[in-house]
Amino acid sequence: MPRPTLIRPTLLAVALIAVAIGLAACTSPQTTFDPRSDAADRIFDLYIMVIWAAGIVGFLVLGGMAYILIKFRARPGRKAQQIHGNNALEIAWTIIPILILVVIAIPTMIWIGTSSTRPVADDAIRVTATAHQWWFEFEYESLGPDGGTLVTANELHVPVGRQVAIELRSEDVIHSFWVPALIGKTDMVPNRENRLEPFIPNEIGVYWGQCAEFCGVAHANMRFRVHVDSLADFESWVAAMNEPQAAPPPETGEARGKRIFELTAGCAGCHTIAGTAAAGRIGPDLSLFGERITVGAGILDATDENVRAWVSDPGSLKPGVVIMPSFADTLSEAQIADVVAYLKSLRVP
Ligand code: CUA
Repeated sequence: MPRPTLIRPTLLAVALIAVAIGLAACTSPQTTFDPRSDAADRIFDLYIMVIWAAGIVGFLVLGGMAYILIKFRARPGRKAQQIHGNNALEIAWTIIPILILVVIAIPTMIWIGTSSTRPVADDAIRVTATAHQWWFEFEYESLGPDGGTLVTANELHVPVGRQVAIELRSEDVIHSFWVPALIGKTDMVPNRENRLEPFIPNEIGVYWGQCAEFCGVAHANMRFRVHVDSLADFESWVAAMNEPQAAPPPETGEARGKRIFELTAGCAGCHTIAGTAAAGRIGPDLSLFGERITVGAGILDATDENVRAWVSDPGSLKPGVVIMPSFADTLSEAQIADVVAYLKSLRVP
């Protein structure tokens, strides 16, 4: 019998390690390894501690196994020796994992305890996030007209360096709120209010959010963005949300689009555009839509082309979304282009 060779397994191991290193260089907009808030930092620290513990255990166990497999491999003339139990070993490999788990559990329990009781600062931005199949609605307490509520959808704006306190609700089924770089994940449950740990974003940027609980056919396409703005940008966004929208110049595509939106197509029956006659509450609020970078609850960049495709037939881009009858059947291409021009014109002045 030929002697078993070690070359093939060694090559395989080298290839696997190379793939692992290659994948580790990939970046993802939804990584928890790039925290941008105090809460995400705390999760990250815990994560790193657990990864170190798991890494050391994995190294020792797999290293020991590799050593034994090589040293005691089958050789001509050698016979395996059978043993039955070893009390010292049994006790050691029971006690060591217990100690490791205790070391991991203590900071985890402390973190869970403090995260659920962290007080909300007086100047915190207070938001209620409501999940719908399949989009997110955000309501800011007391930032709206006359100290009322300010509403937006799918793109949340918050100022950098200020605490944000978010209450979570659902309008239909169980969803889950998750912004890997900032906060989460916490379930959004019908008839129940869940509170996210208040968090302080620490870097200006746009962060990806994702529904993290299966909630129906478009679950994977139920996304959102969090814009962490400078205080000045945030304040001008809030101010523009509260201002009456200036009427577009008559006989432009934008003005025609506004009439189609409000009258011909009846979009205003389902959507609100703050500062205009549109006040429907069934679909996402479209106030300052021209400032949005995405369309369709975070699934597409808000280019003219994508917005046109979305208005025409959203179900073809996000299976499960049904608008009857489709605007592609009831509006002409020119009318849809006018609606897109109108929506894109809704900007911070
Ligand atoms: Cu909403 Cu999954």
